[in-house]
Amino acid sequence: MAEKIDGKAFAQDLRDRVGKAVAQLTKDYDLVPGLAVVLVGEDPASQVYVRNKGKQTLEAGMHSFEHKLPVTTSETELLELIATLNADPDVHGILVQLPLPKQIDSHAVINAIDPNKDVDGFHLINVGRLSTGAAGLVPCTPLGCLMLLKDALGDLSGKNAVVVGRSNIVGKPMAALLLAESCTVTVAHSRTQNLEAVCREADILVAAVGRPEMVSGEWIKPGAVVIDVGINRVDGEAGKTRLVGDVDYSSAEKVAGAITPVPGGVGPMTIACLLRNTVQAACASRDINFDLD
Ligand code: GUN
Repeated sequence: MAEKIDGKAFAQDLRDRVGKAVAQLTKDYDLVPGLAVVLVGEDPASQVYVRNKGKQTLEAGMHSFEHKLPVTTSETELLELIATLNADPDVHGILVQLPLPKQIDSHAVINAIDPNKDVDGFHLINVGRLSTGAAGLVPCTPLGCLMLLKDALGDLSGKNAVVVGRSNIVGKPMAALLLAESCTVTVAHSRTQNLEAVCREADILVAAVGRPEMVSGEWIKPGAVVIDVGINRVDGEAGKTRLVGDVDYSSAEKVAGAITPVPGGVGPMTIACLLRNTVQAACASRDINFDLD
């Protein structure tokens, strides 16, 4: 039976470490890291995320700035807000919640954020930094996955890693991070031929496709470490809904060496990494060398 990777506990530990770093920065440097979160519109899932981000930012001792704009906001208005936040010395991190309403070009918005405040790591400069091995801000969800993998496996070098999914938010940055750890990386996706056989080669399998329980135990190499990034709401018993991942947990846990559950696996790591990135950005803004690991 696979070891269950406790992302919830790991994220709590990471938030505690971030909180200690914030306390020390406040005391020694009079620096309180600040995170601005921008939400356009009233998408219910986004509202939940933004509320949790604000709460956990304050709990870590940081400043939280929330900007809630109406769904009718124009791209120009949003770009004006970004320019204000870029210029604000109390704001060290800026996150614009995605998706944005259709009148707004999300690429234009993301690339208007000061790359050194881009705690999502989505700006082209940070994508370039990650793919060339330069220091920069790394997208939160793949960063969280990497932390869990290193905790489970130690050194990742030489491992066969298969990432299922090629999104800019998870799949592509995850592949870049694993390559930087000297894994042999395959990025599989909806057009991949014989996906099942490709997955079965993986020592490390990261599923980030958004298809409920698509990866079954038969797709998994015995002993592999499985990271499930999926968060899918499906119909459950008695008219209720329940959350499932992209991996069929009950068959996968019989084969894998270790596996993240849904919920309680990768999910809690994302905000913890966002807080960590905000502290990193705050330190960089003042040329402070601070070990966050
Ligand atoms: N929407 C879903 N995931 C994310 C994320 O990681 N960052 C932002 N900004 N929006 C999201």
